[in-house]
Amino acid sequence: MKLIVTRDYESLSKAAAEMVRKEIEKKKDTVLGLATGSTPIGMYNELIRMHREEGLDFSRVVTFNLDEYVGIGYDDPNSYHYYMNANFFDHININKNNVHIPDGNSENMEESCRLYDELIEKKGGIDLQILGIGANGHIGFNEPGEELYVGTCVVNLDERTIKDNSRFFKSIDDVPTKAITMGIGSIMKARKIILLASGKNKREAIKRLVEGKKVTTRLPASFLLLHPDVTVIVDEEAYGISR
Ligand code: F6R
Repeated sequence: MKLIVTRDYESLSKAAAEMVRKEIEKKKDTVLGLATGSTPIGMYNELIRMHREEGLDFSRVVTFNLDEYVGIGYDDPNSYHYYMNANFFDHININKNNVHIPDGNSENMEESCRLYDELIEKKGGIDLQILGIGANGHIGFNEPGEELYVGTCVVNLDERTIKDNSRFFKSIDDVPTKAITMGIGSIMKARKIILLASGKNKREAIKRLVEGKKVTTRLPASFLLLHPDVTVIVDEEAYGISR
Protein backbone atom coordinates (compact mmCIF):
# COMPACT_ATOMS: atom_id res chain seq x y z
CA MET A 1 0.00 0.00 0.00
CA LYS A 2 1.40 3.35 -1.02
CA LEU A 3 0.70 6.30 1.30
CA ILE A 4 0.70 9.94 0.18
CA VAL A 5 0.21 12.61 2.84
CA THR A 6 -0.75 15.98 1.40
CA ARG A 7 -0.70 19.32 3.16
CA ASP A 8 -4.42 19.98 2.80
CA TYR A 9 -7.66 19.00 1.12
CA GLU A 10 -6.90 21.02 -2.00
CA SER A 11 -3.65 19.21 -2.72
CA LEU A 12 -5.28 15.86 -1.91
CA SER A 13 -7.97 16.62 -4.50
CA LYS A 14 -5.40 17.64 -7.11
CA ALA A 15 -3.25 14.55 -6.53
CA ALA A 16 -6.30 12.29 -6.92
CA ALA A 17 -7.51 14.07 -10.06
CA GLU A 18 -4.02 13.80 -11.56
CA MET A 19 -4.08 10.01 -11.10
CA VAL A 20 -7.48 9.81 -12.77
CA ARG A 21 -6.26 11.99 -15.64
CA LYS A 22 -3.24 9.72 -16.21
CA GLU A 23 -5.48 6.68 -16.33
CA ILE A 24 -7.83 8.27 -18.88
CA GLU A 25 -4.96 9.50 -21.02
CA LYS A 26 -3.47 6.01 -21.02
CA LYS A 27 -6.78 4.34 -21.90
CA LYS A 28 -9.58 6.44 -23.41
CA ASP A 29 -12.27 3.90 -22.45
CA THR A 30 -11.07 3.53 -18.87
CA VAL A 31 -13.59 2.00 -16.48
CA LEU A 32 -13.74 4.14 -13.33
CA GLY A 33 -15.28 3.13 -10.00
CA LEU A 34 -16.65 6.25 -8.33
CA ALA A 35 -17.56 7.35 -4.81
CA THR A 36 -19.88 10.05 -3.46
CA GLY A 37 -19.79 11.92 -0.13
CA SER A 38 -17.85 15.06 0.79
CA THR A 39 -14.34 13.75 0.15
CA PRO A 40 -14.26 13.38 -3.66
CA ILE A 41 -15.97 16.74 -4.37
CA GLY A 42 -12.63 18.56 -4.73
CA MET A 43 -11.34 15.84 -7.06
CA TYR A 44 -14.49 16.10 -9.22
CA ASN A 45 -14.08 19.89 -9.36
CA GLU A 46 -10.49 19.52 -10.49
CA LEU A 47 -11.48 16.95 -13.15
CA ILE A 48 -14.19 19.33 -14.39
CA ARG A 49 -11.53 22.06 -14.62
CA MET A 50 -9.22 19.70 -16.55
CA HIS A 51 -12.08 18.96 -18.94
CA ARG A 52 -12.98 22.63 -19.47
CA GLU A 53 -9.52 24.14 -19.59
CA GLU A 54 -7.34 21.32 -20.84
CA GLY A 55 -9.77 19.24 -22.88
CA LEU A 56 -9.66 16.08 -20.75
CA ASP A 57 -11.95 13.79 -22.71
CA PHE A 58 -14.53 11.63 -20.94
CA SER A 59 -16.48 10.65 -24.07
CA ARG A 60 -15.46 6.99 -23.93
CA VAL A 61 -15.01 6.67 -20.15
CA VAL A 62 -17.26 4.13 -18.41
CA THR A 63 -18.23 4.58 -14.75
CA PHE A 64 -19.66 2.42 -11.97
CA ASN A 65 -20.67 4.02 -8.70
CA LEU A 66 -20.10 2.23 -5.44
CA ASP A 67 -23.46 2.66 -3.84
CA GLU A 68 -26.91 4.21 -3.57
CA TYR A 69 -29.46 4.56 -0.77
CA VAL A 70 -32.43 2.20 -0.89
CA GLY A 71 -35.85 3.76 -1.37
CA ILE A 72 -34.91 7.32 -2.23
CA GLY A 73 -36.10 8.97 -5.48
CA TYR A 74 -33.43 9.85 -8.02
CA ASP A 75 -34.63 13.45 -8.14
CA ASP A 76 -34.05 13.72 -4.38
CA PRO A 77 -30.87 15.81 -3.86
CA ASN A 78 -29.71 13.23 -1.31
CA SER A 79 -29.72 10.39 -3.81
CA TYR A 80 -26.35 9.46 -5.24
CA HIS A 81 -27.85 9.58 -8.74
CA TYR A 82 -28.60 13.27 -8.16
CA TYR A 83 -25.22 13.89 -6.52
CA MET A 84 -23.24 12.42 -9.42
CA ASN A 85 -25.08 14.48 -12.03
CA ALA A 86 -24.91 17.68 -10.02
CA ASN A 87 -21.28 17.35 -8.95
CA PHE A 88 -19.69 15.70 -11.95
CA PHE A 89 -21.53 14.18 -14.91
CA ASP A 90 -23.48 17.32 -15.90
CA HIS A 91 -20.20 19.23 -16.26
CA ILE A 92 -18.13 16.87 -18.43
CA ASN A 93 -18.60 15.23 -21.82
CA ILE A 94 -19.43 11.78 -20.47
CA ASN A 95 -21.89 9.65 -22.43
CA LYS A 96 -24.68 9.00 -19.90
CA ASN A 97 -25.14 5.52 -21.41
CA ASN A 98 -21.72 4.71 -19.97
CA VAL A 99 -22.75 5.73 -16.45
CA HIS A 100 -23.84 3.06 -13.97
CA ILE A 101 -25.16 3.57 -10.44
CA PRO A 102 -26.71 0.81 -8.32
CA ASP A 103 -30.51 0.86 -8.44
CA GLY A 104 -31.80 1.55 -4.94
CA ASN A 105 -35.39 1.33 -6.17
CA SER A 106 -35.31 -2.00 -7.94
CA GLU A 107 -38.30 -4.33 -7.57
CA ASN A 108 -35.92 -7.25 -7.43
CA MET A 109 -32.88 -6.23 -5.42
CA GLU A 110 -31.16 -9.59 -5.50
CA GLU A 111 -31.31 -9.75 -9.27
CA SER A 112 -30.27 -6.14 -9.61
CA CYS A 113 -27.17 -6.73 -7.42
CA ARG A 114 -26.20 -9.79 -9.44
CA LEU A 115 -26.62 -7.92 -12.72
CA TYR A 116 -24.51 -5.00 -11.47
CA ASP A 117 -21.51 -7.25 -10.81
CA GLU A 118 -22.11 -9.01 -14.11
CA LEU A 119 -22.13 -5.72 -15.98
CA ILE A 120 -18.84 -4.64 -14.38
CA GLU A 121 -17.29 -7.88 -15.63
CA LYS A 122 -18.84 -7.43 -19.07
CA LYS A 123 -17.26 -3.98 -19.38
CA GLY A 124 -13.87 -5.51 -18.65
CA GLY A 125 -13.66 -4.81 -14.91
CA ILE A 126 -12.81 -1.60 -13.09
CA ASP A 127 -9.46 -0.07 -14.05
CA LEU A 128 -9.36 2.55 -11.31
CA GLN A 129 -11.55 2.57 -8.22
CA ILE A 130 -11.91 5.75 -6.14
CA LEU A 131 -12.85 5.21 -2.50
CA GLY A 132 -13.60 7.37 0.51
CA ILE A 133 -13.61 5.85 3.97
CA GLY A 134 -16.20 6.06 6.73
CA ALA A 135 -15.12 7.17 10.20
CA ASN A 136 -15.94 3.58 11.18
CA GLY A 137 -13.66 2.18 8.45
CA HIS A 138 -16.36 1.31 5.92
CA ILE A 139 -15.65 1.38 2.19
CA GLY A 140 -18.60 1.66 -0.12
CA PHE A 141 -21.30 0.86 2.43
CA ASN A 142 -19.57 -2.28 3.63
CA GLU A 143 -20.04 -1.67 7.34
CA PRO A 144 -17.97 -3.20 10.16
CA GLY A 145 -19.47 -6.40 11.49
CA GLU A 146 -19.00 -10.12 11.76
CA GLU A 147 -19.02 -10.74 8.06
CA LEU A 148 -18.81 -8.85 4.80
CA TYR A 149 -20.52 -9.50 1.49
CA VAL A 150 -18.37 -10.44 -1.47
CA GLY A 151 -20.56 -9.08 -4.28
CA THR A 152 -22.95 -6.17 -4.66
CA CYS A 153 -25.62 -6.43 -1.97
CA VAL A 154 -28.21 -4.63 0.15
CA VAL A 155 -26.95 -3.69 3.61
CA ASN A 156 -28.22 -2.06 6.77
CA LEU A 157 -26.36 1.14 7.48
CA ASP A 158 -24.36 1.36 10.68
CA GLU A 159 -25.60 3.77 13.39
CA ARG A 160 -22.43 5.82 13.04
CA THR A 161 -22.88 6.11 9.26
CA ILE A 162 -26.49 7.23 9.69
CA LYS A 163 -25.34 9.83 12.22
CA ASP A 164 -22.42 11.01 10.05
CA ASN A 165 -24.58 11.25 6.93
CA SER A 166 -27.45 13.00 8.71
CA ARG A 167 -25.56 16.26 8.04
CA PHE A 168 -26.94 16.13 4.49
CA PHE A 169 -30.58 15.51 5.56
CA LYS A 170 -33.24 17.64 7.29
CA SER A 171 -33.26 15.31 10.27
CA ILE A 172 -31.61 12.04 11.26
CA ASP A 173 -34.99 10.30 10.82
CA ASP A 174 -34.86 11.11 7.10
CA VAL A 175 -31.60 9.17 6.54
CA PRO A 176 -32.32 5.86 4.81
CA THR A 177 -31.36 2.84 6.90
CA LYS A 178 -30.50 0.63 3.93
CA ALA A 179 -28.24 0.96 0.93
CA ILE A 180 -27.13 -1.05 -2.06
CA THR A 181 -23.35 -1.28 -2.29
CA MET A 182 -20.64 -2.99 -4.25
CA GLY A 183 -19.28 -5.74 -2.01
CA ILE A 184 -15.73 -6.06 -0.75
CA GLY A 185 -15.03 -8.61 -3.49
CA SER A 186 -16.39 -6.33 -6.23
CA ILE A 187 -14.12 -3.54 -4.96
CA MET A 188 -11.07 -5.79 -4.61
CA LYS A 189 -11.34 -6.85 -8.26
CA ALA A 190 -10.44 -3.32 -9.41
CA ARG A 191 -6.97 -3.26 -10.97
CA LYS A 192 -5.97 -0.09 -9.16
CA ILE A 193 -7.50 1.60 -6.11
CA ILE A 194 -7.16 5.09 -4.64
CA LEU A 195 -8.56 5.73 -1.16
CA LEU A 196 -9.03 9.35 -0.08
CA ALA A 197 -9.42 10.66 3.46
CA SER A 198 -9.58 14.20 4.73
CA GLY A 199 -10.09 15.72 8.16
CA LYS A 200 -9.79 14.75 11.81
CA ASN A 201 -12.93 12.60 11.75
CA LYS A 202 -11.05 10.01 9.67
CA ARG A 203 -7.90 9.94 11.79
CA GLU A 204 -8.67 6.82 13.78
CA ALA A 205 -9.73 4.75 10.77
CA ILE A 206 -6.65 5.86 8.82
CA LYS A 207 -4.36 5.09 11.74
CA ARG A 208 -5.72 1.55 11.96
CA LEU A 209 -5.47 1.11 8.20
CA VAL A 210 -1.93 2.35 7.71
CA GLU A 211 -0.64 0.35 10.67
CA GLY A 212 -1.26 -2.38 8.16
CA LYS A 213 -0.97 -5.36 10.45
CA LYS A 214 -4.37 -7.04 10.43
CA VAL A 215 -7.25 -7.70 8.13
CA THR A 216 -10.56 -7.65 9.96
CA THR A 217 -14.24 -7.36 9.09
CA ARG A 218 -14.34 -4.84 11.97
CA LEU A 219 -12.41 -2.46 9.68
CA PRO A 220 -13.63 -3.22 6.16
CA ALA A 221 -10.96 -0.95 4.61
CA SER A 222 -8.30 -3.29 6.02
CA PHE A 223 -9.07 -5.74 3.19
CA LEU A 224 -7.28 -3.28 0.92
CA LEU A 225 -4.05 -4.44 2.56
CA LEU A 226 -4.43 -7.60 0.46
CA HIS A 227 -4.67 -5.67 -2.81
CA PRO A 228 -1.53 -5.28 -4.96
CA ASP A 229 -2.12 -1.69 -6.14
CA VAL A 230 -3.63 0.67 -3.57
CA THR A 231 -2.69 4.31 -3.05
CA VAL A 232 -4.00 5.99 0.10
CA ILE A 233 -4.04 9.78 -0.18
CA VAL A 234 -4.70 11.58 3.10
CA ASP A 235 -4.32 15.16 4.19
CA GLU A 236 -2.30 16.03 7.26
CA GLU A 237 -5.43 16.33 9.40
CA ALA A 238 -6.55 12.81 8.57
CA TYR A 239 -3.02 11.53 9.08
CA GLY A 240 -2.79 13.13 12.50
CA ILE A 241 -0.39 15.98 11.88
CA SER A 242 -1.63 19.23 13.37
CA ARG A 243 0.15 22.43 12.46
C1 F6R B 1 -19.77 6.93 -0.85
C2 F6R B 1 -19.18 5.84 -0.10
C3 F6R B 1 -18.78 6.00 1.32
C4 F6R B 1 -18.04 7.31 1.59
C5 F6R B 1 -17.68 7.44 3.06
C6 F6R B 1 -17.00 8.75 3.36
O1 F6R B 1 -20.07 6.55 -2.16
O2 F6R B 1 -19.04 4.77 -0.63
O3 F6R B 1 -17.97 4.92 1.71
O4 F6R B 1 -16.88 7.36 0.79
O5 F6R B 1 -18.83 7.33 3.84
O6 F6R B 1 -17.90 9.80 3.16
P1 F6R B 1 -17.44 11.33 3.22
O7 F6R B 1 -16.52 11.54 2.07
O8 F6R B 1 -18.70 12.11 3.09
O9 F6R B 1 -16.75 11.51 4.53
